[in-house]
Amino acid sequence: MNTKSAVPFFRPALGTEEEQAVLEVMRSGWLTTGKIALEFEKEFASFVGSPFALGVNSATSGLMLAMEACGIGPGAPILTTPYTFVSTATSALHLGAEVVYADIEPDSYCISPEKIAEQLARRPEIKAIVPVHVGGAVCDMKAITGLAKQHGIAVIEDAAHSFPSLTSAGYAGTLGDAGVFSFYANKTITTGEGGMVCVHSPALAERISRLRMHGIDRPVWDRYTSKNASWEYDVTEAGWKCNLPDILAAIGRAQLTKAQSLFEKRKAIAEKYNQAFASLDFLRLPPDGQGNAWHLYLLRIVPAKLTIGRDVFSSLLQADGIGVSLHFIPHFQMTLFKNKYALRAQDFPNALRQFETTITLPLWPGMTDDMIDRVIQAVTATGKAHYAG
Ligand SMILES: Cc1ncc(COP(=O)(O)O)c(C=O)c1O
Repeated sequence: MNTKSAVPFFRPALGTEEEQAVLEVMRSGWLTTGKIALEFEKEFASFVGSPFALGVNSATSGLMLAMEACGIGPGAPILTTPYTFVSTATSALHLGAEVVYADIEPDSYCISPEKIAEQLARRPEIKAIVPVHVGGAVCDMKAITGLAKQHGIAVIEDAAHSFPSLTSAGYAGTLGDAGVFSFYANKTITTGEGGMVCVHSPALAERISRLRMHGIDRPVWDRYTSKNASWEYDVTEAGWKCNLPDILAAIGRAQLTKAQSLFEKRKAIAEKYNQAFASLDFLRLPPDGQGNAWHLYLLRIVPAKLTIGRDVFSSLLQADGIGVSLHFIPHFQMTLFKNKYALRAQDFPNALRQFETTITLPLWPGMTDDMIDRVIQAVTATGKAHYAG
């Protein structure tokens, strides 16, 4: 066995259902956005209990569309966390908006409501809060939507990691004005590339629907297939090209039917990891909480108990054949944001500490018991071999 690839970081859970669904689309002669994408939108909306779900070609596009529809643009800054993927922020930059940052909570990866309140007091021109449910663990949405209401601003959830995260208030991604899901190749369900924007307001849905397709006032499917089929359409403003094609939506529909069982498999693996690591004092378990979708298993090392840091620990796991990853390099360490906003790591102590201690372990539904045991064994042995006591 090639130890280098013993346990891949991720493999999508695709089966004959997805293959068949793609074949049917290929044979139908209609590849782009049409009835399959419409069905996927309906089924997704029904799954999460949202009045509107709009398929897009990525969560990145979805974030940009949702922000634009919520009035974000030049002079209308957004407030988000430095502990996120780059496109949570670049979506706002593409609209000409500014990005303002609030640190995460001390013991989770979620944006801190306390820090949000501080920034809103300092920068009253902020027009939207963009919380990110990192790893699938849901932010304190009650506090966040409460603050947004108080300030009369929007909440756009970056729900790229949080499908299906069910809280007592509903699914993450449906708890603010807009929620944006990702179906990127390593997400909890995938279409290869793709995403979904959920909104409550018909006006937001209409605007997002139009802007995702050049600003054209009629969907292409409608133009070719309705009784009033015609080449006629109007464009009132410049949109983008962010639609989800049927060939990808077909994969999404098949994945959606498996979403709950895929979630249960991930949860069972996370529980096995938790059980194995709970008694090791050089490790801290990932923050959990209501409705965790377990997209990522974010293990923290305790530097004081080890003679090696996160980087060496990760490299040793990798050398041992365990595919690990790192979520996320905080924005204050990236040249773009650091320079643009003169960000300083010391202003985000929680994000810095989490970044310096976190290793993302493999967590995907098809992992065998043998693979799970290998990961546990490698993490335990690495820690014990470099134990500082
Ligand atoms: C937190 C977060 N937001 C947004 C995105 C963007 O998703 P996509 O690749 O679908 O554009 C990602 C991608 O990994 C992400 O991790």
